[in-house]
Amino acid sequence: MALWGGRFEKEMDEIVKYFNASIFFDQRMYKEDIQGSIAHVTMLGEQGIVTKEEADQIITGLKVIEQQIASGKIVFNVDDEDIHMGIESRLIKEIGDVAKKLHTARSRNDQCQVDLRLYLKKEIKEIVSRLCYLESVILEKAEKYADEITVGFTHIQHAQPITIGFIFMAYFQMFRRDIDRLMDTYDRMNLCPLGACALAGTTLPTNRYRTAELLGFTAPTENAMDSVSDRDYSLEFLNDAAISMMHISRWAEEFVWWNSQEFGFIDIDDSYCTGSSIMPQKKNPDMAELLRGKVGRAYGNLMQLLTVMKGTPLAYNKDFQEDKESVFDTCDTWKDSITIFANMLEKTEFRLDRIQQHFDKGFLNATDIAEHFAKQGIPFREAHEIVGKMVKACENNNCDFEDLTEAQLQAIDGRVTKESLGDISIKACVDARMSFGGTAPAEVRRQIKTGKAWLETLPELA
Ligand code: ARG
Repeated sequence: MALWGGRFEKEMDEIVKYFNASIFFDQRMYKEDIQGSIAHVTMLGEQGIVTKEEADQIITGLKVIEQQIASGKIVFNVDDEDIHMGIESRLIKEIGDVAKKLHTARSRNDQCQVDLRLYLKKEIKEIVSRLCYLESVILEKAEKYADEITVGFTHIQHAQPITIGFIFMAYFQMFRRDIDRLMDTYDRMNLCPLGACALAGTTLPTNRYRTAELLGFTAPTENAMDSVSDRDYSLEFLNDAAISMMHISRWAEEFVWWNSQEFGFIDIDDSYCTGSSIMPQKKNPDMAELLRGKVGRAYGNLMQLLTVMKGTPLAYNKDFQEDKESVFDTCDTWKDSITIFANMLEKTEFRLDRIQQHFDKGFLNATDIAEHFAKQGIPFREAHEIVGKMVKACENNNCDFEDLTEAQLQAIDGRVTKESLGDISIKACVDARMSFGGTAPAEVRRQIKTGKAWLETLPELA
């Protein structure tokens, strides 16, 4: 008979048992469950709700159970139903009737939530640290490639020359926001729901501040009913993950086409590629593609929990048991993706010789010429039109800006001479883009410096 079986005359149907059970996935939180129980019974002991001796016996027993789970001596099964009852029933077996006092002034409704918050707090610390590692790899590469020029695209069309370090620092900003967002989420979830009980608190003289303190939360949650029905913190986490995985997916996509024969901009290390079972010559960017695709899970998991929560009334509903698997899957997927991506990035080198072959296509310096004209007093709109005509003339004559003759330039606009074009070498164009946030090597170095300072002074999560 289940621990809650007092008023029941029949056993659960076998198929219902399996459908109802969360033990097969929530046992992942066994450490957090025991941590929560130890804090809870410590508080019960301090408040005189159980005696100090009873509290000590229960704590000793819980530590034994933890050992037994860790060593594989306890194997949970469907009759355990969930991790909370799985541990409680083993505790009763281990230390006898005194264990039955542990569930005073709490419910599984608050218990499953304290477990999940503790679990997520730990995971967030790990994910932040992995994102920080990724940021450090990005900074290292940005520095290495601060002066190296590549093609900047808009609409996947040649746009303007940029530095490779500049691209790295663009992604640095995305992951920086991911870290900031995750830290905000952490702060909001750092409240303790334990002691809310089923939905309405308790008549027993508990001290929820003490439980919160023992578990390292900043305070107890304010309203018991909200505490057991709130899944916002999980939704925020899933949202943070969805955005961050989208960032990884975007860069992974760039890796895929940079790695193609047509571009040949990068060489992804062999250890992060796979071959084809039929085409012997193939070296496929499979890790980049998997990283691009994994975001599907992150979006799906967010949608899953949003949908579970929709329209549910206060307070706890069994629907909410569906809050865990998606969170766990996102934790695993996100962590792996960050690490694999950081390592792949570290092992990837740019093929500068190949990149340079693309510089004479697409009139990369067209905007710079228009800006030269603007500096000489020609209104930018007119300068834009003049350069547009120069592009057309080059296309007609199959040549570059530098090849247009004085006569050809004069025919386009009387104000334009070869001299007035200024230095339009790719390097001069990049070096001159010194506006704040621009692509010039010196400006990228400033961005790297700011990024490093931010990373080095990131506060520890409490
Ligand atoms: N296994 C449940 C969950 O994860 C625990 C709470 C069960 N509470 C209840 N009243 N049925 O949501």
